[in-house]
Amino acid sequence: MNWSEWARGRNAKARAKDRWRETNDFDAFGPRGALGDGRRVVSFASNDYLGLASHPAVLAAAHAAIDRWGTGSGASRLVSGSRPVHTQLEDALASWKATEAALVFPTGYAANLGTLSALAGPQVLICSDEHNHASIIDGCRLARELGARVEFFPHADAGTARALLADWAGRAIVVSDAVFSMDGDSAPVEELARACADYDALLVLDEAHSVLSPHAGPLPCEVLRVGTLSKTLGSLGGFVAGAQVMTELLVNRGRPFIFSTALAPADAAAANAALEVLRSAEGAALARRLEGYAGRFTRQGAALSPIVPIIVGTERAALAASAALLGEGLLVPAIRPPTVPPGSCRLRVTLSAAHRDDEVRLLGEVLGRHGLWP
Ligand SMILES: Cc1ncc(COP(=O)(O)O)c(C=O)c1O
Repeated sequence: MNWSEWARGRNAKARAKDRWRETNDFDAFGPRGALGDGRRVVSFASNDYLGLASHPAVLAAAHAAIDRWGTGSGASRLVSGSRPVHTQLEDALASWKATEAALVFPTGYAANLGTLSALAGPQVLICSDEHNHASIIDGCRLARELGARVEFFPHADAGTARALLADWAGRAIVVSDAVFSMDGDSAPVEELARACADYDALLVLDEAHSVLSPHAGPLPCEVLRVGTLSKTLGSLGGFVAGAQVMTELLVNRGRPFIFSTALAPADAAAANAALEVLRSAEGAALARRLEGYAGRFTRQGAALSPIVPIIVGTERAALAASAALLGEGLLVPAIRPPTVPPGSCRLRVTLSAAHRDDEVRLLGEVLGRHGLWP
């Protein structure tokens, strides 16, 4: 069998299981745009939670960076040097996260992969929440390859994480999404941090989706905060914030940092400008608007989150629900394995401060009419 035949077989299997994925055109600025066939829709699919990807100050900063430094960075920062905008961004991120230092990676995916693999080795235990993002799972896989022991603990079960730490004599890491990307629920950060403090373990928190709770307050253990520039900050890239000695270690051992071309200056400048907006009164107002929208879809007792999972079960049901909403002018993705476990296929609605009130009301009305909400 040649490779094309093999690929054809794999693709056919994915189709037969309703797990086929393909990219589709969506010509949009902010949440509104046109599909490839010309239909106008409103997107509830993007992680641009505050709408900063189309904010005038963010656009202006990106344009100015292109005019000053050109488009690409040319090489890894260790080879061709940082543009001032890279270091400005890192200082701003460290100040935002209240840490000594921050280091920017090409993506959030690379930040998780680079961090977990840089810390891995024999005598290292990594305890990972079973609902963690794929980039953490892949970081764990790489860490295992480098000699670390990896254990997955049941979702949000800090007690089991603590028991795993208690049984381990070497260095240990607990890694968790702070807000889980497919459910929008929160990790028991304080309990995980107390367990880490008791066993001298490092807590790696992925705060990619922590828009309504940007970061937990001071924690009693050593912490690395992983984040992304590509969601709330409307740009592209990832970062790790923590003690300077740790970011220095990542400069020397974080292979996606060392061996990838630096972030484009325009991406860094856009994230920097977005962070300025986010930390201003305007940013607070955008977060309040998002909170208001999220409040309409938050189930009783749950934390406010702009991620609204609507679990429908099978792949087919998720695709049908997504198609039905598209027919009503709403773009809401069907999420299927391997992103979520089999049997828990869902619609994943993401709300943004860039949505208008009438669009969010329409979403609620359409979901209700199709029996998808509440
Ligand atoms: C929790 C979490 N971490 C990391 C990432 C990766 O971030 P990026 O898109 O910047 O690679 C994502 C993106 O989907 C995510 O949801």
